[in-house]
Order: sequence, then structure tokens, then C-alpha cells
Amino acid sequence: MAQSERLNNAFNKLITDEDTNLMQKNARQISEDYRNSIGSNKRIVNDENQAKAYAASRMRATYQAVYDSLKYINKISCLNADSLLDVGAGTGASVFACTDLMIIKDIVLIEREESMISIGKKLFSLTDDNSLVKAKWIKGTLQDIDVNSKYDLITASYVMNELNDEDRISIALKLWEMTKDTLLIVEPGTPKGYRNIIDLRDILLSKGAYITAPCPHMDKCPIEEDDWCHFYCRVERTKLHKQLKGGEAPFEDEKYSFIAFSRKEKQLPVYRILRHPKTSKGHIKLTACSKQGIVGITVSKREKERYKDAKKLKAGDDFY
Ligand SMILES: C[S@@+](CC[C@H](N)C(=O)[O-])C[C@H]1O[C@@H](n2cnc3c(N)ncnc32)[C@H](O)[C@@H]1O
Repeated sequence: MAQSERLNNAFNKLITDEDTNLMQKNARQISEDYRNSIGSNKRIVNDENQAKAYAASRMRATYQAVYDSLKYINKISCLNADSLLDVGAGTGASVFACTDLMIIKDIVLIEREESMISIGKKLFSLTDDNSLVKAKWIKGTLQDIDVNSKYDLITASYVMNELNDEDRISIALKLWEMTKDTLLIVEPGTPKGYRNIIDLRDILLSKGAYITAPCPHMDKCPIEEDDWCHFYCRVERTKLHKQLKGGEAPFEDEKYSFIAFSRKEKQLPVYRILRHPKTSKGHIKLTACSKQGIVGITVSKREKERYKDAKKLKAGDDFY
């Protein structure tokens, strides 16, 4: 089945008779609340109508950000997981992305809002995927997580930015303790989201974690103070999406920052492309992160194979 099709199908079944005006009102309120209370530990989604509005307006974008992050990980080293823990799971977007790429036997999700869990469970039950139907949802806070449970893969998408600084660090350390193979953290592609990632990068590297993606090295991040490392994923907008968010654009670009930590050392690429490549007559100019810092690379048409490869590059890709 095509990427995200299971999520779209489940969602369309869930909202058949839904009142879009109410969803529109809730979606606007939620996005305003998120803008105003990031990092405050404040509860934003309080009932099922709001959870549905969250799912309608955000889930496709958060799904895509996790999906693309996993694809970047897979390019470095093929990710397989028998067990998955998703924390701050919301309505389960990350689990849809993981299970679109891998067959996972044991899935556990932790989420503090009953309403998010309820909508997530309904979405899972509307797929015919047995691993989703029998996934275990735990209503609880990340502050109380049980570090004795271990999982091959742990995902935390768009949740670290909802925690205060102290909780973010202690919870990331606990998640790392619980990780058997890979810990993936995805955040909004904002200066604050990147800052969260980079702070956790320093802390977890000091605990012996290895990086799988996106960094092509494990030295200090060379991104300058007023810049931030982030990537884009393109998300098609459905009719409902346009109604909820306004405008007629057929797609939107979701900005996200991410990092994947591994228990095992990986062969990292030489370069990670940071900006959209610029093509001029006979050349392609690239800006990339590397062990030597942020570098400009010019690939000439005369370098036949390399030029052919460079022509296909987009921001976020690796390059050798
Ligand atoms: C922005 S949503 C992201 C949901 C989902 N991971 C996604 O990517 O679509 C953040 C979720 O984390 C949950 N959350 C925030 N702080 C939490 C905490 N301390 N313990 C458990 N869940 C938490 C919120 O209730 C919310 O559902």
C-alpha cells in the first residue's frame, strides 16, 4: 500500500459524519495554544473533538516527518525492529510511519491524554493491520516512565518541545537507557526545535550514543548561532485540510529537525546536504555539513557520474 495510505483511509473512515466547522474551530484553537505554550508542560488537547481536530490538521505532517527521518536512517543502515515504543504518542502518527516501513511485532505507545489515546486507538482499529490493532496504549506521563522496559526502537516525535528543560533532559536520558538499538527524536524545524535536538545530542553523545542521521560526524555541530539545522517534507493537502487551515495550495512543506541515536557505530556519509542545490551552467553548487564544518561544494559537469548524482540531490540527502 502506498505511503500514508493506511493512515488516510483510517482517518477518512473515522470522520465520515464529522462536523467540519467544529473541527475547524478546534484546529485553530489548538494551533494557537501550541504557539503560545511551547515547553510549558501545559495540557492542550482535552476532549475527543479536539483530538480529532489535532489528527486532522497535524497527523499527516508529523507522519511524514517521521517517515522521512526513518528513510534517512535506512540509507545509513537498515533499521529493523521487533519492538517499538512511541512516547508522547498523540494519535499514533509515528507508529503509522514506522509500521509503513517495518514489520514490528510489539508496539507500545505512551500518552497522557485519554482523548488522544481514544482517537489513536480508533484509527488503529480502522486498519486491518494486526500489529496496530493489538498495540498497547499506556495512559501515563513520560516523567513516570519505567526504565526497565527495553525496546529496539523508540520514537519521540513533536513531544520534547512540550517539556520543560529539566524534564526534557531527564526523559531523554531515560529513553536512551530503554533503547536497545535506535532512539529517534523529531521536533518542529524551528530554532527552538533544533536547539532541543542539539542539546540532547551533546548529552547523549557524552553517554556513549552514536549518531545514525542526519549528522555526518559526531563532533560539535558546526551550525552557526543564528542558523538551525532542519529539513522539509512535502505533504499533500486534502480537501478537509484546506478547510481546516485555509488557502487552496495543493501541498504544504513541513519543516522538521531530527536526530537518530544508535547503540552501534555507523559508517556516516561524507556530506549531508543542507540547502536546496543551486544549478548554474555546467555546475551544481551544494552547501553541506561535513567533518570539516559547513562547506560549499561545486560539482562540475565534467565529473560525469558525480554530476549525475548531484543533479538528483535535495536538501537532507547524503552525498559522498
Ligand atoms: C504535538 S503532540 C505529538 C503527537 C505525536 N507524537 C505526533 O507526532 O503526531 C504531543 C503529544 O505529547 C503528549 N505529551 C506531552 N507531554 C507529555 C508527557 N509529559 N507525558 C506523556 N505525554 C505527553 C501530548 O499530550 C500530545 O499528545
